[in-house]
Amino acid sequence: MPIPDDCVVVDIDSGEPTTPVPFVLSFTDLSYSVRRRRRGGGLLPSRPSKRLAFTDALPSPAPDDDNAPTKSLLDGISGEARDGELLAVMGASGSGKSTLLDALAGRISRGSLRGRVELNGEPLNGRRRRAISAYVMQDDLLYPMLTVRETLRFAAEFRLPRALSRDKKRARVEALIEQLGLARDADTIIGDESHRGVSGGERRRVSIGTDIVHDPILLFLDEPTSGLDSASALMVVQVLRRIAQSGSVVIMTIHQPSARILNILDRLLFLSRGRTVYAGTPSGLKPFFSEFGDPIPDNENPAEFALDTIRELEHQQPDGAAMLVQFSSSWRQPQKNTLGELLAADKKNEKLCTMPLEVAIAESVSRGKLVAGTASSSAAASMPTYANPMSVEVWVLMKRAFTNTRRMPELLVMRLGTIMVTGFILATIFWRLDDTPKGVQERLGFFAMAMSTMFYVCADALPVFVQERHIYLRETAHNAYRRVSYVVANSVVAFPPLVILSLAFAVTTFFAVGLAGGGSSFAFFFLIVLASFWAGSGFVTFLSAVVPHVMLGYTVVVAILAYFLLFSGFFINRDRIPNYWIWFHYMSLVKYPYQAVMQNEFRDATRCFARGIQMFEGTPIARLPETVKMSVLNAIGNTLGTNMTADTCVVTGADVLAQQAVMDIGRWKCLLVTVAFGFLFRFLFYIVLLLGSKNKRR
Ligand SMILES: Nc1ncnc2c1ncn2[C@@H]1O[C@H](COP(=O)(O)OP(=O)(O)OP(=O)(O)O)[C@@H](O)[C@H]1O
Ligand SMILES: [Mg+2]
Repeated sequence: MPIPDDCVVVDIDSGEPTTPVPFVLSFTDLSYSVRRRRRGGGLLPSRPSKRLAFTDALPSPAPDDDNAPTKSLLDGISGEARDGELLAVMGASGSGKSTLLDALAGRISRGSLRGRVELNGEPLNGRRRRAISAYVMQDDLLYPMLTVRETLRFAAEFRLPRALSRDKKRARVEALIEQLGLARDADTIIGDESHRGVSGGERRRVSIGTDIVHDPILLFLDEPTSGLDSASALMVVQVLRRIAQSGSVVIMTIHQPSARILNILDRLLFLSRGRTVYAGTPSGLKPFFSEFGDPIPDNENPAEFALDTIRELEHQQPDGAAMLVQFSSSWRQPQKNTLGELLAADKKNEKLCTMPLEVAIAESVSRGKLVAGTASSSAAASMPTYANPMSVEVWVLMKRAFTNTRRMPELLVMRLGTIMVTGFILATIFWRLDDTPKGVQERLGFFAMAMSTMFYVCADALPVFVQERHIYLRETAHNAYRRVSYVVANSVVAFPPLVILSLAFAVTTFFAVGLAGGGSSFAFFFLIVLASFWAGSGFVTFLSAVVPHVMLGYTVVVAILAYFLLFSGFFINRDRIPNYWIWFHYMSLVKYPYQAVMQNEFRDATRCFARGIQMFEGTPIARLPETVKMSVLNAIGNTLGTNMTADTCVVTGADVLAQQAVMDIGRWKCLLVTVAFGFLFRFLFYIVLLLGSKNKRR
C-alpha cells in the first residue's frame, strides 16, 4: 500500500530504526455507565475484582431491569496518546482510572461503551487489537521457580511468531532484559513466600516484560508502580518511557507519582468521578491551577497538590469538582503549551498522523518491530490469532510447567508423604487380614478408606491450580496460546507424579493388608489407584476453575467427596439406596474404584470367608457355648438336607460380592469409567475456561 504524501517517510535503508512510525490512539467522548445492582442480585460478587477471576466481568444489569438507577463511571472523556509519549491517567481512588484503561484496551464490551477509540483514525477490531496491544495486570503472576531469563524466554516462545528463528527470539529476550534493567538478576528465580527470589520492583519489571516481549504498539498498564518504593517506581517508569520511545503508545494509571516521576511523564489525564479535570503536560499543571485561582505553591509536588485539590472539591458541595471540569474544558481550547518545542512537535505529529493504520503497522514491522505475529508487511489484516501451532504451544507449556515443578520437589514430597503415611497407617491397622466374617468387614472398611484417600490427597493441588489459573487468564487474555493447549499440557504434566504416588500407595498397602490374587491382582490394584488419582486430580482441576477462592474450593471438595463416599455403596448398599438418590450413586466417583477393588479381592468364587459356626458371628447365637452352636449348625444342615460340619464353607467370595451389591458393573469397566471421569472433568475444565475467560466488562 502506498504511503500518503503528507506523511514523513523515514529512510528504512539506513539500517537504524530511528524515527518511530507515528501512532495516535485517540478516544472521543467515552462514556460508560452501569446500572446499580438491586439487593440480592446473585451469588457472584457484583464489583469486578482487581484479581483476574472469572467473575471479573460480571457486573451486568438484569436486562429486564430497565429503570434501575445507573452510575456513570466514565462521562464524555476525550483525548489522545501518541507513540513516544507516556500518558498517565491519574485521579483519586474510584475516579475511573482502571475503567478508562479497560475502555481503551477493549476490555469493555462494545455494546456498553459509548464513544470512539481509534488508532490512526481507524477503529480497532478485537483481533488486531489483541495482536498489537498488551495489557499489564497489577498483579505479578509468574511461575515462582523459573528464573527471570526463563520466564521471558517462555513468554517469547508464546508470543513471538514462529517464523522468527530461535536465535532471534533469544536475542529479543536478551535485549528485553537489558531494556528492563534486569541484566544482573537474569538468572535469579522469581521466588515466592517460601523461596527467596528477585525483589518486588524487579518482579514487576519481569511481569511487564512478559507482556511486552512481542513489542506491542499499544501498551496499557494498570498501576505499574503501586506497592513499589520510590526508587523502584522510578525505574519502572523509566523503562516504560524507553518502551514508548521505541515506538509504542504507552498508557498507564498511576497513584501519587513522585516529583521525579512526574517529570518523566509526557501527558497527564486527571479524572474525577469519570470526568476529565485536567488534560495536558505536567508543566501545564501550574498555569492551569493558577488560572483556576488555586495556584500550586512552589515547594509542592504538583501532582499531589492537584490530587488533593480535586479531592477537596469533590467533597465540598454536592458537586464541587464540576467547576474544575468546566474550567478544564474551556482551558483546553487555547491549548496553552508552555514549551515552544512542544508546539512544534505537535505540528509535526499532526502531519504524521494521517498515515493509515495498516501502513503504519507494516512500516513499524519493517522497522524491526516484532509485533503482529508476522514479518510480512501486507499481512496485517490476515494476522493469525495465535503465534504458534498447537503442538508447539503444548510443548512449551509442558516444558515450562515441568521446569517449575522440578524445582519445587517439596510439593511432590509432601503429597508422597501424605499418601505414604496414610498407607502406613492403613497397613498397620489392617495388618494381614484373615478370611473370616470379621476379615471381610475389615476389608470393606479398608477399601472404602483407601479409595477415598486418593481423592482427598488430590485436594492438595487446589491452591496450585487456583494460582496457575491467574497466570493462565493473564496469558490467554492476549492470545498467548490456545485454551485447549493449556488443558492438554496441564493434564500431561500432572500425570507422572500420579504414577509415583499410586505405586507408593499400592506397594505399602497391598501386601501388608494381605490382599488376594498375587501379581495380576496387584497390577489391577495399582491401575485402579492410578485411575482414581487421575479422576481425582481432574475433579480438583475442574473445581479450581469453577470456584473463585481456595478456601471455598476446599469446602466444596471436602463436602462433595463426603457425598461421593456416602453414596459409594460402602455405607449403604446400592440395592438399599432410595430410587430418587440412585443417580447420585452412579455419579459418585468413589463408587467405581471401590467396586473394582472389591471385585478384585473377592472374585475368587472358591475362596471361603466363613466356615461352619463362624456364620453365627454377629448374631445372638455367637454368645452361646460351642456345643450349642454345633447343634444349631447340624439342625440347619438337617433342615437343608446337607451335612454341615465346622469346616463347611458357608460364605464364599461370590457371596460377599452379591451381599454388597457391587456386581452391576465389572471391574475392568469400573476402571474404564474411572479413567473416563478423569477425561470428562478435564473436558469440563476446558469448557469452563472457554466460557469464563472472555475477560471483558459488560
Ligand atoms: N460494576 C460496577 N458497578 C458499580 N460501580 C462500579 C462497577 N465497576 C466499577 N464501579 C465503580 O466505578 C468507579 C471507578 O472504578 P475504577 O476501578 O475505574 O477506579 P480507579 O480510579 O481505578 O480506582 P483505584 O485507584 O482505587 O484503582 C468506582 O467508584 C467503582 O466503585
Ligand atoms: Mg484502579
